[in-house]
Amino acid sequence: MVKREKSIELLNQAVNDELMAVHQYMYFHFLLDDMGYDLLSTYFKRTAIEEMMHVELLAERILFLKGEVEMMQSHAVEKIHDVKAMLDKAEAMETQTIMDYNQFAQEASTALDSATKKLFEDLILQEERHQDQFDIEKDNLANYGDNYLALQSIEHAKKASVGTQMT
Ligand SMILES: [Fe+2]
Ligand SMILES: [Fe+2]
Repeated sequence: MVKREKSIELLNQAVNDELMAVHQYMYFHFLLDDMGYDLLSTYFKRTAIEEMMHVELLAERILFLKGEVEMMQSHAVEKIHDVKAMLDKAEAMETQTIMDYNQFAQEASTALDSATKKLFEDLILQEERHQDQFDIEKDNLANYGDNYLALQSIEHAKKASVGTQMT
């Protein structure tokens, strides 16, 4: 196996961005959970777990290429408390990742590493799904405003009452 330095570098950049996404989305998950916005809180948690699985796929490829996995996050977590600002941040992160992975796929192709190129292409499909979902949530918040947030609280109350019945 030829050590593919370029691919390893691209894959590690992606690991750093994915780790940042894991931390940022978990942070949003904790805050939204604390505010009682269950639906959105759960969505951020689920997305964070998916980003963690992306780290795993990238790390497996790095090790296959005989590289070292650099477990650093690209940026510090932004301490955002406003729901709309959280969704704006998340959508911007997904948009940036989609642009980066398109670029990385091309660079991997230029370096004649089709498997790494395909990995980035597979990840793009999932990031586009994330972006789309954050966009839908932003639309819902814009269209329904306080009602959207009230619905989240109703879900929280429903779960709380189910929990009471079970005990
Ligand atoms: Fe990801
Ligand atoms: Fe994502």
